[in-house]
Amino acid sequence: MSNDRSRSPFDRIADRYDETRGGVRRGRQFAGSVDSFLASPSVIADLGVGTAAVAEPLTDLGHTVVGVDLSSAMLDQASERIPGRLLVGDVQTLPLDTDSVDAALAVWLLQLVGDFDALMHEIARVVRPGGLFFHVSSTPRIEPNDITDLTLKMSALLGRGWDRSSTLASRLMPYGFVFQTEIAMAHDDVKKSPNQQADWIESKVASMFWDLDPADWDAYVQPTVDALRALPKPDKARRCTESHLLSLYRRRE
Ligand SMILES: C[S@@+](CC[C@H](N)C(=O)[O-])C[C@H]1O[C@@H](n2cnc3c(N)ncnc32)[C@H](O)[C@@H]1O
Repeated sequence: MSNDRSRSPFDRIADRYDETRGGVRRGRQFAGSVDSFLASPSVIADLGVGTAAVAEPLTDLGHTVVGVDLSSAMLDQASERIPGRLLVGDVQTLPLDTDSVDAALAVWLLQLVGDFDALMHEIARVVRPGGLFFHVSSTPRIEPNDITDLTLKMSALLGRGWDRSSTLASRLMPYGFVFQTEIAMAHDDVKKSPNQQADWIESKVASMFWDLDPADWDAYVQPTVDALRALPKPDKARRCTESHLLSLYRRRE
């Protein structure tokens, strides 16, 4: 890892990242799904590698993974998992050679990057012709109930969901990436009450709330918190099933 110590909003959550995002168990599920599309051991760039929760099991499956991330604190966690294979850097100017990887992987990254065009230009540069781009949307498929109805509406009002393949596929075409398929990766079956969901929003553990304009919080988030707490039996847990969506694109030869 480079000694260039950078500052990133994710520095603040690095110590708690795994416990709040499914940790190694979630990483193994995602890695297994990615691996199922790779015929042979591959060189993979994990963009926004974070704590290497996905990169480590991909390495265990025989792939060579290089991870790039802005956050030194996240990379400190990752360095215990894939030492020597990490680069501090911005995915908008990737510290990787042209046509140097068989596949790029972006899990929950696109919505965090300021310049989508710069990111896609870089992905198209480093992935070899015929190589793959794997993308996991930050907006999972969620089975409807009274809690998820409210939170999905809030997410849409905050502009989330554009990174699903239904929208993304056409945006990747100009960079030479052609949509192949999308699968739902069963992630979690959690039981949550409306009050627990409201507490979770207010704890601001999710990055979508970190830099939110206070006016947007007042207009969209606080009313959602209030509506959650006003639901019938607000301490009774509901089953909330989330499936994360993995989409796959191939770079034209
Ligand atoms: C939600 S986390 C996902 C981490 C990992 N992919 C996973 O599955 O757990 C997003 C990561 O992207 C990194 N990130 C955000 N913007 C970035 C950028 N412009 N360049 C590099 N990394 C970035 C953050 O520091 C963070 O570690």
